[in-house]
Amino acid sequence: MSVALDIVDDLLSLFETGIDHVKQPALFPDYLSLKRVPVSSLYKDTDNAKEKISEMFAKYGFLILENDIPMKQRVVKSAEELSLRFFNDPAMNVADKMKRYHTDKELGYANTTAKEAFHIKVFDECTHKDIQHPFPGGEFESVLTEVYFFLESITKRVFEIVMSKYEEEKKKESRSAEKIDLNAFRAIGTPKDGRFSSSLLSVFCYRNTHTCLNDKDAAKVVNCNAHVDQGFLSIEPCPNVTGLEVFLFATKEWIRIDQFLQKHDLVLFCSETTERITQSYYRGVLHRVGANDAQRLSMVYKMRHKDITPDDMKLHFGPDEQHAFYQYNENGDLVKLSFE
Ligand SMILES: [Fe+2]
Repeated sequence: MSVALDIVDDLLSLFETGIDHVKQPALFPDYLSLKRVPVSSLYKDTDNAKEKISEMFAKYGFLILENDIPMKQRVVKSAEELSLRFFNDPAMNVADKMKRYHTDKELGYANTTAKEAFHIKVFDECTHKDIQHPFPGGEFESVLTEVYFFLESITKRVFEIVMSKYEEEKKKESRSAEKIDLNAFRAIGTPKDGRFSSSLLSVFCYRNTHTCLNDKDAAKVVNCNAHVDQGFLSIEPCPNVTGLEVFLFATKEWIRIDQFLQKHDLVLFCSETTERITQSYYRGVLHRVGANDAQRLSMVYKMRHKDITPDDMKLHFGPDEQHAFYQYNENGDLVKLSFE
């Protein structure tokens, strides 16, 4: 435990703001053959574990992982508490927060109709001394950066496992799989060329201020429309209230996946680059964020690649942040897919 985190823990005991995770998560439905995967098991390199993880990932496009490392549980909780405090700070108005936004680098604070957000990337401090990452003060930077590298390490390991399985399958067909160097894509670690990482950690605070809605109308409200994330993989720790909905390929239905999550669980899902490089052996997960009746704090680490351009981002997110589902077609062009 770092000194910074000890201080955070002390502060939290004084100013408990009450991250209150779902207390009694629903059981996985019988028809889902999902098994919770402890994070520590990812590093026990057994063929059995590799087979199980890869099979689930190929079937659903996502995995439910359990953060069974107590020190990392505390780091994630601290990051959630500090983020909520930043978003709800009565002494800081939106204009103050917007000063912490580098629009050209996707860094810092963002504010839309449905949510507030804070985006974090990493860089090599030795080769890039002049960069000012627009963090608010206090322990926010150190704690969020620790979460960034924790989620990166899990994501990198799962990527190694599922790609190893994919390579085996290709070998059976006497074909070779594309070798992916995550460093070359600036997807992991800190770039040595004075740039920010391609990957990022985003903290989202959904307002969920949809008042005067009955249950039927509330079910129609979508905070973030259906889309597949750009990049290799995305991972989200269990949020304080539910909202994340994923589309099941087999039964063609939406399920609110975080109703099944226990306090220290994480959802890891396949993004569009992994679908593209595995020729749809693994499929990017279509997901959206639905409404709830309370402020929802969620964190997402996206392991992305350096070739995402501003035009890609515009295409992916579209005007007014009305997210759409885009995917690469057989010519390698991003095209909007119709759905439902
Ligand atoms: Fe997403």
